[in-house]
Amino acid sequence: MTTDPRALPGADPHTGNREIDPVTGYDTTGHDWGGIKELNTPFPRIAFVALLLSFLIALTGWILLPAWPYGRDFTRGLLGLEQGEMAQRGARAMAEIRQGWLGRFEGTPDFEALAGDAGLMPQAMPAAGRLFGDNCALCHSREGGGGPGFPVLNDGHWLWGGAPEDIAETLRVGINADHPETRIAQMPAFDWMERAERIALADYVAGLPAGRADPSAPGAALFAENCAACHGESGEGGLDVGAPTLTDAAVIYGQDSATVLETITRGRAGVMPNWSDRLSAAEINLLGLYVARLSEGKGP
Ligand code: HEC
Ligand code: HEC
Repeated sequence: MTTDPRALPGADPHTGNREIDPVTGYDTTGHDWGGIKELNTPFPRIAFVALLLSFLIALTGWILLPAWPYGRDFTRGLLGLEQGEMAQRGARAMAEIRQGWLGRFEGTPDFEALAGDAGLMPQAMPAAGRLFGDNCALCHSREGGGGPGFPVLNDGHWLWGGAPEDIAETLRVGINADHPETRIAQMPAFDWMERAERIALADYVAGLPAGRADPSAPGAALFAENCAACHGESGEGGLDVGAPTLTDAAVIYGQDSATVLETITRGRAGVMPNWSDRLSAAEINLLGLYVARLSEGKGP
């Protein structure tokens, strides 16, 4: 079929010649508004093809994959894929892989044998590190370095024992926590004591770690009378009451005299939540081993 060139847009109705705009080199549509002419610039073919293709791809997607929500459900698509189910299947597979070795931490495990298992440790310790990062690092810091009010876990000093089973027990019941068997560590307030006496005591206690506490100072007698029952004759600490040693650098709150004065005046009872409702028994044992190994080779 041939078309009369005179009928084409922009063509001269008599000669059929198209008018070319001298500035842009485009032909014109023939529309003319008081001397302003419209250029003939149709939508580029390649863009049109791309648009068509993407529309087709979207349409195929709608037909094959889950796409349209309606009420409480959604269209499944011809492939019948369900991403929620796929994710759950993936999680179950992961849990099964983990359960394979995590199961060995169930009950009362033989920590020494587990720690000596060269096949197990490269799987278990990174997983334990992630558990620690998610649950413990907030208070005890990433590497167990502690902070004011939160004990250091990687220096080999322990209030409640540093064997994996002791640590697991601390985690299971917590410290000053709401578990019925919680470990209890309460430093009573000595606010009833004369301020001058409290200051003398604080100076004495602040001097203990450096070995410069004077046994004939007034603070020494006050210490023997008021503090030794829990912290030991020379401040070595009393394990059964969670009273920390006062003779070395392992401090929870700080052992400068101002902080000690504050401790004596107000008392302390740091709370460590119990983990038995948040972590499984196997995870708690795993963390016990992990935390015990943080300080391996270090210690008093
Ligand atoms: C909300 C803050 C907090 C979190 C989270 C926390 N802890 Fe503690 N933790 C403490 C405090 C505070 C103490 C010291 C309690 C005290 O003053 O006697 C403590 C004490 C401990 C002790 C006893 C140290 C010793 O000398 O015997 C261990 C072990 C311990 N935490 C491990 C962990 C582990 C492992 C986790 C993660 C599962 C964890 N903690 C999470 C606050 C926390
Ligand atoms: C009933 C037992 C008890 C008595 C008595 C006691 N303390 Fe304590 N003290 C504790 C406990 C438990 C803690 C740990 C509190 C905590 O973990 O939150 C503690 C903590 C401290 C700390 C903080 C140590 C640190 O690492 O930051 C200092 C300092 C201290 N006591 C000094 C004294 C002095 C001085 C006296 C005597 C006036 C005294 N205590 C009497 C149980 C006692």
